[in-house]
Amino acid sequence: MTRKFYITTPIYYVNARPHIGHAYTTIACDTIARRQRLLGADTFFLTGTDEHGQKIERAAQAAGKTPQQYADEISAEFRQLWKRMGISNDDFIRTTEDRHKKRVQELFRKIRDNGYIYKGTYTGQYCVSDELYVDGAHPGDPCPTCGRITETVHEENYFFKLSAFQDKLLALYANPEFIRPEARRNEVISFVRSGLRDQSISRSTFIWGIPVPDDPKHVIYVWLDALANYITAIGYGSSHAGAQEAFKKFWPADVQMIGKEIVRFHCVYWPAFLMAAGLPVPKTIVAHGWLLFEESKMSKSRGNIVRTETILDVLGADALRYFLLREVVFGQDGSFSFDALVQRYNSDLANGLGNLASRTLTMINRYFKGEVPYPSHAASKTAADDAIANAARNTIREFGTLFDQFQFSRALEVAWALIASVDKYIVENEPWALGEKKDEDSRSRLATVLYTAAEALRIATALAYPVMPDATAKIWVQLGLGDIKKLALDELTWGQLPLGTKLGEVQPVFPRADKSAVERMQKMEEDQRAAPVVEAPAATAVTTGQPNATPTSTAAAPAAAPAANDKISIDDFAKIELRVGLVKVAERVPKADKLLRLEIDIGTEVRQVLAGIAEAYAPETLVGRKVVIVANLAPRKLRGMESNGMIVAASLEGGKPVLAGFLEDVPVGARLK
Ligand code: ME8
Ligand code: MG
Repeated sequence: MTRKFYITTPIYYVNARPHIGHAYTTIACDTIARRQRLLGADTFFLTGTDEHGQKIERAAQAAGKTPQQYADEISAEFRQLWKRMGISNDDFIRTTEDRHKKRVQELFRKIRDNGYIYKGTYTGQYCVSDELYVDGAHPGDPCPTCGRITETVHEENYFFKLSAFQDKLLALYANPEFIRPEARRNEVISFVRSGLRDQSISRSTFIWGIPVPDDPKHVIYVWLDALANYITAIGYGSSHAGAQEAFKKFWPADVQMIGKEIVRFHCVYWPAFLMAAGLPVPKTIVAHGWLLFEESKMSKSRGNIVRTETILDVLGADALRYFLLREVVFGQDGSFSFDALVQRYNSDLANGLGNLASRTLTMINRYFKGEVPYPSHAASKTAADDAIANAARNTIREFGTLFDQFQFSRALEVAWALIASVDKYIVENEPWALGEKKDEDSRSRLATVLYTAAEALRIATALAYPVMPDATAKIWVQLGLGDIKKLALDELTWGQLPLGTKLGEVQPVFPRADKSAVERMQKMEEDQRAAPVVEAPAATAVTTGQPNATPTSTAAAPAAAPAANDKISIDDFAKIELRVGLVKVAERVPKADKLLRLEIDIGTEVRQVLAGIAEAYAPETLVGRKVVIVANLAPRKLRGMESNGMIVAASLEGGKPVLAGFLEDVPVGARLK
């Protein structure tokens, strides 16, 4: 019977356009899926987009679109990009699809019928950006994951009895395969050992989500909705026989790949939800590290992203795929830089695999009329030939072991060591000198040397295929071997290159990148950042899904950037007295929908300030919170009351104001300068 293999990426939030951080997860999965297909597994590779929740609702609102329009656009961008990158996913699930919504409701029903859901009330601090409640946080506290200020939420919710699963989860983690790598497993174990609280799994203060079955005032918590994609996509909860079959066949997943910041959702909540529904848990959850750019996690909110398109335009998808898997030690964080990318491309691809292919194939063309030569009689063999054959056999074995343990960079290192030893072998055996001689012995030695080089090239190419599907497919055709997808990787061994094979047309697959490649890519990214913001998604940094924004991100917002010829001096700026204030009192102003009356302690005195933020902030969420106030603004009267100062907030046409705040603790009264 054919072995099945089911692999998933997380589904991507549609509040951000795809960048190479997203591409990283997808590439790693695509590579694994491609290897599994060649190994003969009946493979299913799933990816998709995560489209519900408050964060998306707010991003859409800031963009002046309906959540559905907004999700449609960004989800399409992900699909187009994956297509352009040759990602071989078998399905793409969107959480706003009917098939998903119905099946999530089925899952909810199942868990409820099994007695793991109850109704209760809850007051807590919620992080909209991460879509999670922060246990033990107080109003004004930042989210421990992303540092953004949490919002106070008080609502009647459905709760999931997570507390009932502590022992079962710990038993699950006893299997070291369940969470990889080890460091992540240890984190999860200590988190679960410290005790689990029941989790709210519905929200009633907004509507952009899947209604709770039989109680549509509530929507299902976005993480339960999102996690369920892994089973809804393959047919869970469907009444169609075909879908049920598929679910039976593919579930549980063999590999679920995620980034390290979403380990808790995948390794604690997800298996608990599954167990509550009476379903098996995934075999392995693998967490990778972050791609850093300019020293911090590449992310939309930091504005330090690199777009995949730029790299595709200049170096192609294979270059990016190879670089990410070779350069970053899987599981750890890794820095991205254009310099390192071009350096790797030139040294490993243009000079490495590319050069080995073109010199070997060109000589076979020249000396053997483009037919793979026969390594003839034993007398023409040397220990060096055997050494290459042995090195290739070892490489096949080691590459497989390392790769299947997700150690992509070491696996590639091993394969490239084979390429380096073949290069050395070619230099030492001087086929070009042998080619000049016409005697029988030289001819047969030349045949052996070129056969050995071509066979080693075939093996390196076969191993590299999952990582660089495009270039290796071309080399395969040049080797005269046809469609590389038909290769039986599980049977790969030395000596399979058919003698007399007619080569295809030889062409370079990795043309050398010149110095300007780095500058060109940097320029493309700078232009992109400087481009006027026509559509809202790029401008959402300070207004969407983030209850708070730091002064830095406010200044970085495209909408706030002053025109170049419109600069002020530092002295002008010094005239504005910005201070840290602490909100002591906050209340609505009767008959004014937008206005709140605040009393703010600025260290030296308590000021009354009227602020037009009532639509964005409930008064009780502001008390105890630190804000930034313009302390030397002339007082003015609003609705008969004096407003003595102004609080600073990011604002965007059509969006709600977002208060400036601090990630670290600051003393009340401190001056901003
Ligand atoms: O978390 N480096 O979606 P997401 C490496 N919708 N990986 C990165 C990265 C970076 N700089 N930036 C993002 C979500 N990623 C949820 C998942 S699954 C049921 C729901 C990776 O769009 C990140 O680690 O924020 C994660 O694996 C993926 O992109 C999706 O992130
Ligand atoms: Mg994220």
